[in-house]
Amino acid sequence: MKFFIDTADLAQIKEANDLGILDGVTTNPSLMAKVGIKGHEAINKHYVTICEMVNGDISAEVVSTDFDSIIAEGKKLAALHKNIVVKVPMIKEGVKAIKWFSDNGIRTNCTLVFSAGQAILAAKAGANYVSPFIGRIDDSGWDGVQLIQQISNIYTIQGFRTEILAASIRNPNHIIQCAEAGADVCTCPLESILGLLKHPLTDIGLAKFLEDAKKFV
Ligand code: G3P
Repeated sequence: MKFFIDTADLAQIKEANDLGILDGVTTNPSLMAKVGIKGHEAINKHYVTICEMVNGDISAEVVSTDFDSIIAEGKKLAALHKNIVVKVPMIKEGVKAIKWFSDNGIRTNCTLVFSAGQAILAAKAGANYVSPFIGRIDDSGWDGVQLIQQISNIYTIQGFRTEILAASIRNPNHIIQCAEAGADVCTCPLESILGLLKHPLTDIGLAKFLEDAKKFV
């Protein structure tokens, strides 16, 4: 399973990248706003900076909702850097645009996916990635990980090549459950990635080893 970080914060991207386990980055307009990046020019510059930091796929989201504007915006985003993947919302015009991008060699990530039916449509249209938002599904009283499992089963049975990118990760256990459920990628906040490191027995064991090691000095 690939690890992406879900942020536009350069310090957090650097910290995850320095771990050596980062395969890519996802962003969205809310994450851009959170770090105070405003305006097309600044946002595009920020995407290029991220592409230069991380050697992997970088999702850049369109903010248009009609076919012609999504295509125009996506073409501009894709031209910024070879690693840009155009993130397109799961709406009717978005599905049409994903098909157009797929036919024209532009890679896509279909975002805001909350059902197996939407995931089938994204795959049929030729999306490279499909992004089910598992945390938001859990928040609404449903089971996000179960959706990952369901999409994984469907894609395997049907031979779809779209990669399942589990998004809206809330904690380290989500990452483990998504790995088990067949996600190809998990895009996570930094704290969820770092949370995988933690176990109290590791800390206790290390403290004892270090203490005992002093006896040999
Ligand atoms: O990648 C999508 C993700 O950013 C949504 O996460 O935490 O806003 O539900 P969240």
